[in-house]
Amino acid sequence: MAITQSIKLFQKAREVMVAGVNSPVRSFMSVGGHPLVMARGKGSLFFDVDGNAYTDYCLSWGALILGHAHNDVVSAVRRAIVHGSSFGTTTQVEIEMARFVVRHVPSIDLVRLVNSGTEATMSAIRLARGFTAKKMIVKFDGCYHGHFDDLLIQAGSGVAKLPESSSQGITPNHIQETLSLPYNNTRVLSDILNRFHKDIACVIVEPVAGNMGVVRPEKDFLKTLRELTQKFKIVLIFDEVMTGFRMGLGCVQSDLGIIPDLTCLGKIIGGGFPMGAYGGRKDIMQCVAPLGRVYQAGTFSGNPVTLCAGLATLKNLSKGFYLRLNTRSEEFAEQMNRFFVSQNSPAYLSGYKSMLSLRFQAGPVKNYAQAQKASSVQLYAKLFQKLLKNGVYWPPADLEAFFLSAAHSNRDLRRLADLLKDFFA
Ligand SMILES: Cc1ncc(COP(=O)(O)O)c(C=O)c1O
Repeated sequence: MAITQSIKLFQKAREVMVAGVNSPVRSFMSVGGHPLVMARGKGSLFFDVDGNAYTDYCLSWGALILGHAHNDVVSAVRRAIVHGSSFGTTTQVEIEMARFVVRHVPSIDLVRLVNSGTEATMSAIRLARGFTAKKMIVKFDGCYHGHFDDLLIQAGSGVAKLPESSSQGITPNHIQETLSLPYNNTRVLSDILNRFHKDIACVIVEPVAGNMGVVRPEKDFLKTLRELTQKFKIVLIFDEVMTGFRMGLGCVQSDLGIIPDLTCLGKIIGGGFPMGAYGGRKDIMQCVAPLGRVYQAGTFSGNPVTLCAGLATLKNLSKGFYLRLNTRSEEFAEQMNRFFVSQNSPAYLSGYKSMLSLRFQAGPVKNYAQAQKASSVQLYAKLFQKLLKNGVYWPPADLEAFFLSAAHSNRDLRRLADLLKDFFA
């Protein structure tokens, strides 16, 4: 598989962009080999500038639930763009999107559309602090909520690859108000909330974690979290940037029957364009400017072209759609896990519906410490390179989730299964 054009172009990229990329994990630093320059995509495939095809299980980090260049999305964008790209006013499609979100996501009475997942979480945190007039925030180790200063400690995803648990350039006063607790540890959670509730503005959590690989919440974890935050009048924020609209139209909160005060969305909602949203209880959302005194604004927020792509995506999602996608994903994970057990392989596919990740141990993990123990940078790099050589693209770092889209065929999955079996046999 020749990648001469990728190599040539990437040399140019390195001259002018940090490590040749605009987001760290794209640089292949933790998997080695040469980063690829992509040219186009269709369905489950994307193609590099040398014309090599790859079945894509990264899917723009989970955003492309319909696969690449879905006809409905392409047509919607084409129709929208001829009428202008941005107005800086309210548009009809914004209203339609907001109504869609409010109708389907149980926690959301009022919504504000923004331009990324980071913007959504950052704004939700500010809002929670404004609403409660308290300062401290609680997060969980291994959860990633974007590159917002106050949340960038003990974060998963690309941050996990930094030598420290956080980024340089963040002043102590930002993170001294942040507590990061072990995921799925109800005892520690209860203890901290009982002791510090007078100072805690909010708790933010990935209700199913995806940024330390996929970790499911244990039975009582979110329930206790909901009960305690209600009792202490602490704002509970579900970060559903990754899970939102991936499992079902009501997001994970509907699935689990636990309704937060605020919800952050991103990825799928933008249909492959930059977008995020935060929303929730009316009395809290009414504190956002101009109704309230929590300021948050955006030149491109609610961009009409983005929203047309987002809505075209969301309109494809139905009960039947999710049933098909989720069933195939779950069957795939079960089949692989049966194989790993039969071979005595130190491997396990952790999954929640169409969001999956591989552990290098038999059986699931329940928190970040266990996820790190069950990870192997060397083995993952080897596997990644094997897959890539065989035309399969996984996220270029372990501890990231990979995804299935509606465009992935049974043939795609059989091929992935064969490659994984071959690797572990
Ligand atoms: C759960 C979660 N929250 C927030 C973010 C940040 O979103 P964005 O990269 O759009 O800023 C991400 C990104 O991967 C995420 O997975």
